[in-house]
Amino acid sequence: MALFCVSAAVLFGFIYVASVAYMERQTEETITAEITGFVDQYRLRGLGGLRNTIAQRAAARPDRASIYLLVDRSGRIMAGNIDRWPEGQETKEGYVRFMIETGIEGDNSVASHRALARGFLLENNARLLVGRDIESRLSIQATLLNTLMIGGGVMILLGLLGGLVMSRWMLGRLDDVNRATTRIMTGDLTQRFVDKGSGDEFDELARNLNRMLDRIERLLAGMRQVTDNVAHDLRTPLNRLRSRIEVALMGEQSDEARELLEATVRDADSLIHTFNAILSIARAESGEQQAEFEPFSLREMAQDVTELYEPLAEEKSIELRLKAPRDAMVVGNRHLVAQALANVVDNAIKYGVENGHVTVDVRERPTPALIIVDDGPGIPAEMRERALERFVRLDMERSTPGNGLGLSLVAAVARLHEAKLELDDAKPGLKISMTFPPQRRVGRQASGRQEVRSAA
Ligand SMILES: Nc1ncnc2c1ncn2[C@@H]1O[C@H](COP(=O)(O)OP(=O)(O)OP(=O)(O)O)[C@@H](O)[C@H]1O
Ligand SMILES: [Mg+2]
Repeated sequence: MALFCVSAAVLFGFIYVASVAYMERQTEETITAEITGFVDQYRLRGLGGLRNTIAQRAAARPDRASIYLLVDRSGRIMAGNIDRWPEGQETKEGYVRFMIETGIEGDNSVASHRALARGFLLENNARLLVGRDIESRLSIQATLLNTLMIGGGVMILLGLLGGLVMSRWMLGRLDDVNRATTRIMTGDLTQRFVDKGSGDEFDELARNLNRMLDRIERLLAGMRQVTDNVAHDLRTPLNRLRSRIEVALMGEQSDEARELLEATVRDADSLIHTFNAILSIARAESGEQQAEFEPFSLREMAQDVTELYEPLAEEKSIELRLKAPRDAMVVGNRHLVAQALANVVDNAIKYGVENGHVTVDVRERPTPALIIVDDGPGIPAEMRERALERFVRLDMERSTPGNGLGLSLVAAVARLHEAKLELDDAKPGLKISMTFPPQRRVGRQASGRQEVRSAA
C-alpha cells in the first residue's frame, strides 16, 4: 500500500510539474517571438518605427491581456498600455513577475491580475517590455492541482480499500485452511477443505490437500485394519493359552512345574497388557473416539482411579491423596482419560519412594486440569520429551516391570482431547499436568464440596 501511495503521488506530481512547465514555456516562447519581431522592426525602421508598431499593438489591447511598454534611455514612456515599468525591476533584463490592473477603464471588469513580462535592452539603451496576463493560466494550474489532489486522494482511498478487502479475503481463505488443518491434526481425518468452485489457487490447494487426505485416510484405514486384525488374532490365542495354563495349574504338579506355569501366566499377562496398551494408543491416535465424546465429571473419574490404586500405594506406604475442591466437567472419552490418569498414578507409585506422597489434583479454573505430583526421583528435564515416546523406558537397570507404553498413551489421550501435557520438576519428584481446553457449558453444575482421600 505504501508503495502504491508513493507511486501514485510521484505520478500525479510528475503530471502537475510537467504541465506547469509546459504552459510556462509556451508563454515565454510567445513573448520571445514577439520581442524578436520588435527587434527586427527596430533595425528596419528605427526607434520611431518601433514606437508606432508598439502603440498600435497597445491600442489593440486596452484590456492588457498582452502588455507592451517602450521607454527611452532616460526612462520616459514612448508607447505602451501600462503607465510604468514594474517597480524594482527597472534595470533588469529578463523575466519579471508583477501585478497589473486589467480590463477597460470605466468598465466593471477591472481587476488586479498577475503578469509575466520580459525586459529587453535595445541598442540605444531604450528599453522594451513585452508580457502577458497569466492570471487565467495560473488559475488553470490551481484547478489542475486541485483535480490531481482530489483524484490522487480518491485513488489512494480506493487502493487502500481494495488492499484491505484483498488481504481480508486472502487471510480469510488462509484461516479456513488453518482451521481445517487444526481439526485434522487433532485426529478428525474426515475433515475436508472447502472448494469454493471459483477455480483459483486456493481451490486448487484445497483440492490437492483433500486428495492427499483421502489417500492418508485410506492408508490409515488399511493400517488400522491390519493392527486390529493382528491384535485380535494374537489376543484370542493368547487368552486361550493363558486360560489353559490356569486350568493346568488346578491339577497336580511338581513344585518346579508349577513355578514355570505361574511364570508363563505372568508373561502372558504382560503380553496381553502390552497388546491392550498398543490398541488403546492406536485408537486414541486415530481420533475416532472424538465422535463419541461425552461430558463427564473429572472428579468422579479421579475418585474411581485413586480408589483403584489405593491398595498398590498402601503396599509401598505411599500416601495417595485426591484434591478436588471443585468438580470440573470435561467433554471427552472418560474411559481413555481414566486410563491415562491410571498410567500416571501407576508410574508415581511404581517410581516413587517408600513412605512418599502422591497427590492427584483436579482443577476447574482457569480450565479443567489434572495435576499429579509425586516426590520420587522425577525425570531430568532433557529426558521428559523422550519419556513420552513409545517403548521408551528411562529406568536403565530395568528393575521395575513395564514396557514404556504408559506415558505414550497419556500423550495420545492428551492430543485427542486437545489438552496440554506438561512434565515438570516437583523438587523433588515429578509433576505431570494435563490441561484441557476451555469447555463449553456442559450439563452438570460443579459443586464446591471438599473431597480428600487418603491411603497411608
Ligand atoms: N513418576 C515418575 N518418576 C520417575 N520416573 C518416571 C515417572 N513416570 C515415568 N517415569 C520414567 O519414564 C519412563 C516411561 O514411563 P512409561 O509409563 O511410559 O513406561 P513404564 O512405566 O516404564 O512402562 P508401562 O507404563 O508401559 O508399564 C519410565 O520408564 C520411567 O523411567
Ligand atoms: Mg508407566
